[in-house]
Amino acid sequence: MTDTTDLLDAGERLGLDELRALQLERLRSTLRHAYDHVPFYRDSFDKAGVHPEDCRSLTDLARFPFTAKADLREHYPYGMFAVPRERIRRLHASSGTTGLPTVVGYTDNDLSMWADMVARSLRAAGARPGDVVHVAYGYGLFTGGLGAHYGAERLGCTVVPASGGMTARQVQLIRDLEPAVIMVTPSYMLTLLDEFERQGVDPRTTSLRVGVFGAEPWTEQMRREIEERFAIDAVDIYGLSEVIGPGVAQECVATKDGLTVWEDHFYPEVVDPVTGEVLPDGERGELVFTSLTKEAMPIVRYRTRDLTRLLPGTARVFRRMEKVTGRSDDMVILRGVNLFPTQIEEIVLRTPGVAPHFQLRLTREGRLDRLTVRAEARPDAPEQTRETAARSIVAAVKDGIGVSVDVEIVDPESLERSVGKIRRIVDLRPRDAG
Ligand code: DLL
Repeated sequence: MTDTTDLLDAGERLGLDELRALQLERLRSTLRHAYDHVPFYRDSFDKAGVHPEDCRSLTDLARFPFTAKADLREHYPYGMFAVPRERIRRLHASSGTTGLPTVVGYTDNDLSMWADMVARSLRAAGARPGDVVHVAYGYGLFTGGLGAHYGAERLGCTVVPASGGMTARQVQLIRDLEPAVIMVTPSYMLTLLDEFERQGVDPRTTSLRVGVFGAEPWTEQMRREIEERFAIDAVDIYGLSEVIGPGVAQECVATKDGLTVWEDHFYPEVVDPVTGEVLPDGERGELVFTSLTKEAMPIVRYRTRDLTRLLPGTARVFRRMEKVTGRSDDMVILRGVNLFPTQIEEIVLRTPGVAPHFQLRLTREGRLDRLTVRAEARPDAPEQTRETAARSIVAAVKDGIGVSVDVEIVDPESLERSVGKIRRIVDLRPRDAG
């Protein structure tokens, strides 16, 4: 599974100067396209006193206004499109937790570029033409299933469009069709793990060689758990519907050192989440994307709310982004201390006797918020181990994050299992107060 340069596509072979020149050319044309065809962009550029012609270098992008999820909602459903509706070949939507979903559209060229980017991602993950690829991301309005599907076909793989759910059947399909590659959320991979064990099949003996996991944050500890228990390589795929779907960035199996951003099509910036100021590479902040080649829905400086930092390229000329540790939306502020579910994941997964299944329950007593970490005992863990585990999680959270939490070690298989994106936080605080 060597990642030799003769497998790279034309974009991946660009030199750094060629890449920057191409990005600038594409950026200028995207800004013009957005300004000329989307009233929202025309208004927002005019209000900010900038014109597409003002973009003469990549750093000039910082003069342009941001786009937020709320802007997309406000123009629901078709208001952000830059081409006539008849040229939109497909729609997807991301389900908002509140209110209207966000609708995104693709022209034929957009769909083709997207398939190229997912094919490129899969190749970087170690997939090769001819491999059988099991897609267990949900099919439908969510971009995961169909996005993965067309990319795997583009690479020349045999695709099993399993979608999410019907876990027993998923395991049967993996046993019978012998895929080399699985594409699924990391949390659903754990659900599959339980099912393999329930069926008495050693998950290390399957045909699987690589797992391409994304759509939710996951940690290095989770990578280790999945790699060991399935005897596969586990790599990270990132994306969001507003930018395209899966395939915006991908971790290369040869390096496993963060995700290479496909910056010939998606231009990344990291900004201070509070001031909006562009941060230099290497500094942590909020990830912002500008599409460089999209036709149906060009997106300019979209605030993802995902927190990460940009790093120099290793496996490719493109920059990398560090694994996303969380979204600003998922941050819990507990008695003044900021806490992300991934920080708890790291602790739970290194605690002996505890399974990789956990949930964070937020409650309020009087004026005080309480966080209870509910983690499952491993099936073979004796009662005494549970007490030790609970104490050790409390101490690790206190030492590492600096806040007191309650820990409950619950029975094996008592927490709800994921079939797609997992919901880690159960917020039981009274609405008006919180
Ligand atoms: O989740 C697209 C996708 C599908 C990516 C399959 C990867 C695999 P949305 O539903 O629009 O699109 O959700 C996008 O999910 O802003 C992140 O907060 C989160 N996310 C996606 N990939 C990762 C990842 C798809 N690898 C939102 N690590 C993003 C952490 C991720 N978070």
